[in-house]
Amino acid sequence: MNIRFSAFIITMLACTTAFAEPFSQGNAEAGQKTYVHYKCATCHIDRFGGDGSTIFTRADRQIKTAASLATQIRKCSTNLGLMLFEDEEENLGAYLNRNYYKFKQ
Ligand code: HEC
Repeated sequence: MNIRFSAFIITMLACTTAFAEPFSQGNAEAGQKTYVHYKCATCHIDRFGGDGSTIFTRADRQIKTAASLATQIRKCSTNLGLMLFEDEEENLGAYLNRNYYKFKQ
């Protein structure tokens, strides 16, 4: 492999990482099932009414980045005493991001 070709490959890898959608490894459908299965909405409904989803869409929502979304998912699941696998957290992130947050990176 010559140097120019190696540089090309490295550039390609760097680009796919930089432009990867958040939670791109996650499966939003599976995340929605996890959300329902663990009754994630329960407390959010207590505070915000309806189906609880305005917690994600209100103007003063807490979460401003994909990274903090991932952190919050972990906090809430820890509060519930859940030991979620990383792929379950990734799926939850994919679901919440697809339906509500819509972070691009
Ligand atoms: C024991 C109650 C409770 C349960 C159950 C719960 N949450 Fe939460 N959740 C909270 C509270 C409290 C907040 C913070 C609300 C605020 O900002 O005032 C929150 C906030 C969040 C936010 C951030 C909302 C924002 O402001 O943008 C996300 C995302 C979230 N929860 C995800 C989850 C997920 C995923 C689950 C299920 C694994 C879950 N929550 C289960 C209580 C709970």
